[in-house]
Amino acid sequence: MTASIISGKELAQEKRKQLAQEVKELKQQGVVPGLVVILVGDHPASISYIKGKQKASEEIGVAFTLEHFPESMEEKELLDVIEKYNHDESCHGILVQLPLPDHIQEKAVIEKISPLKDVDGFHPLNIGQMMIGEDTFLPCTPAGIVEMIKSANIEIAGKHVVVVGRSNIVGKPVGILLLNEHATVTYCHSRTPDLKEVTKQADILVVAVGRANFITGEHIKENAVVIDVGVNRLETGKLCGDVVFEDAKQIASHITPVPGGVGPMTITMLAHNVVKSARNSAERLQVSKEL
Ligand code: GUN
Repeated sequence: MTASIISGKELAQEKRKQLAQEVKELKQQGVVPGLVVILVGDHPASISYIKGKQKASEEIGVAFTLEHFPESMEEKELLDVIEKYNHDESCHGILVQLPLPDHIQEKAVIEKISPLKDVDGFHPLNIGQMMIGEDTFLPCTPAGIVEMIKSANIEIAGKHVVVVGRSNIVGKPVGILLLNEHATVTYCHSRTPDLKEVTKQADILVVAVGRANFITGEHIKENAVVIDVGVNRLETGKLCGDVVFEDAKQIASHITPVPGGVGPMTITMLAHNVVKSARNSAERLQVSKEL
């Protein structure tokens, strides 16, 4: 039997329709959800990701603003731009595209973004809220992964999840979100000895290492669910994941494709966070009117 494909693309389309309807309703209340994306420099992958974010925003009806600055921009200037949008009522979400040039401290930038507009879910306050299972802005890729697993009616509670990769953006938070869904979670990374021995125990294997074809059939348990977060461009120009798709297809029960898997859901969860932020802001406005 070959694995079922969990199509992030199809799920993203469905979710974007629902979000477009919510945006319509917010607009009727006089609130236009607004996203500001800040790009420093001309990193080609960043430009391509931003195009996807812009397209999704337009599709849903979110007002999209790109602030594009040269690589030479000073950290102070960037912090001032963030400060301006922290106070701009038409802006509900601020996203500073990573990576930043070396002379700008990522930590200072992330901490400058108002936690109320942190639609990436990277601010330490939002990460803390996520850790304790509070309602907050969840990081987009991990939140998209949980949605994808649930959309395929896969039970998470009690399952052994193995996460390969420990980045702050994907690996660490996806483990926390799945732990909050009552999974047993194991993290693996570059210093894990005998990686195969661990990954072969996974009922749900999440791979986010950024290395083409890193996980092969030897790493996967029969009937496991395989979530491939990698987006790697081969010399041929073709995109591929971190998992050898053809291997996983023969062994797993479910697999996410690359492209058309986790990527479209990441962007959709960003739009979800912007709409959530706009809704929060509309509610705050209503409360202040009533006072
Ligand atoms: N660079 C790669 N992924 C992301 C992301 O999810 N958010 C931001 N801000 N930058 C990124």
